[in-house]
Amino acid sequence: MKKSIIAGIGMYVPTNVVTNNDLLKYMDTSDEWIQERTGIKERRYAHRTEETTTTMGVEAATIAIERAGITPQDIDFIIFATLSPDYYFPGCGVLLQRAMKMKEIGALDVRNQCSGFVYALTVADQFIKTGMYKNILVVGAEKHSFGLDFSTRGRNVSVIFGDGAGAVVLQPTEEANRGILSNHLHSDGESAEILAMYNPGTHANHWMPEKYASFDQAEIGQMFFSHAMIDDAQVFPNMDGPAVFKKAVVKFPEVIMEALNANNLQTTDINLLIPHQANLRIAQFVQQKLKLSDNQVYNNIQQYGNTTAASVPIALCEAWEKGKIKEGDLVCLAAFGSGFTWASTLMRW
Ligand code: UT7
Repeated sequence: MKKSIIAGIGMYVPTNVVTNNDLLKYMDTSDEWIQERTGIKERRYAHRTEETTTTMGVEAATIAIERAGITPQDIDFIIFATLSPDYYFPGCGVLLQRAMKMKEIGALDVRNQCSGFVYALTVADQFIKTGMYKNILVVGAEKHSFGLDFSTRGRNVSVIFGDGAGAVVLQPTEEANRGILSNHLHSDGESAEILAMYNPGTHANHWMPEKYASFDQAEIGQMFFSHAMIDDAQVFPNMDGPAVFKKAVVKFPEVIMEALNANNLQTTDINLLIPHQANLRIAQFVQQKLKLSDNQVYNNIQQYGNTTAASVPIALCEAWEKGKIKEGDLVCLAAFGSGFTWASTLMRW
C-alpha cells in the first residue's frame, strides 16, 4: 500500500502582534502571570474585518501548494480543521475552495478542536493510501480573537489563544523509507463540558451537568439565541484549566508512546516532536516524562499563543523552515484538547 508524504507546507500568522501587556487594557492580568503559567509572551490577532479563518487558511494553503510544485487546480480534496469557522455553516472548506478557484472537489470540515489537524491529516492519509486522491490539502486555521471574553471574567481562556493558519499538501509516495507511518486517534466524551463553547447550540441543557447548565427551564426552548446567553458569557469558550492540564499531561505521553510502540521505535529515535501548543508547561512536562532533549521538541507558543487546530501545522512549518527537520527524520505530531480528543501521527520526513 502507498504511503503519504507532506509534499508542501505553509503557514500564515497575522501581522498584528498582541503582547501580554496589551491585554492589560481589557482585563486584570499580568505579563508575569501569563508567562509563568503558560510560557506565552505574545500572540497574533487577525484584522477584524479583512481577515477570517478562511482567508488565513488560504494564505497558508497558497504557500503549501506552491512548495508542493502544483497549482490549486491540482488539489483533489480539501480537509479544513477549525473551531472558529467563518459561518456556523457551511464550513470553511467550501469557502476556501471558492476563494482559491479550485475545481468542484470534495471539501470536508473537521471539528476536533486542538487535535483537529492531526485528525484531518489522518483522514487524508487514508484517502491517499487507498489511492482515492493524489493531492489533498489539509488546513488548520483559527480566528480566536473574534470570539473570546476579553473581560476579567474570561481571562483564564482569553490570554491563551491566538490566530493563525497552517496547511500541508499530502501526496502518495512509493519511497519505502518516507511518509506517514501510523496515526492514533482517541476520544473520551465524559468531560465534554469542561472545555467547551455551549452556545449557540441545540443542547437545551440536556447534557449539561448542573454546574455548567446555563438556562432555567423557562428559557429553554425559546430560542437558539438569547440576550441572556450574551449577558452570561455563554457564547464564549469555557474551560476548567487545571482539569484539562491534568488530563493532557497523561494523554500526551500515552499517545506518543502508542505511536512509537506501534512502529517498534523508542523515544530516542524521535528527531522532532511537534506537540500541540497548548501550554509551554504541558510541553515541558511531556518532554521530561519522555526524557526528550531540548533539540527533540519544538515549541513556539511563546510567540503565537495557542492557535488550536493551527498550532501543529504552524509549528511543523516553522521548524521545517528553520532547518530543524531534514529528509529521513522521524517526526511525531501529538495533540490533546476539547472533547476530550487526542491524537498522534508518526512520520518519516
Ligand atoms: O489547547 C486547549 C487545551 N487547553 C489547555 O491545554 C489548557 C490547560 N490548562 C492550562 O493551561 C492552565 O490551567 C491555565 C493556564 C489555563 C491556568 O493556569 P493554572 O495555573 O491552572 O491557574 P488556575 O486556573 O488554577 O487559576 C489560578 C489563579 C486563580 O485565582 P485564585 O482563585 O487563585 O485567586 C485565577 O482566577 O489565577 C487566576 N487567573 C489569572 N490571573 C491573572 C486565571 N487567569 C488569570 C490571568 N491573569 N489571565
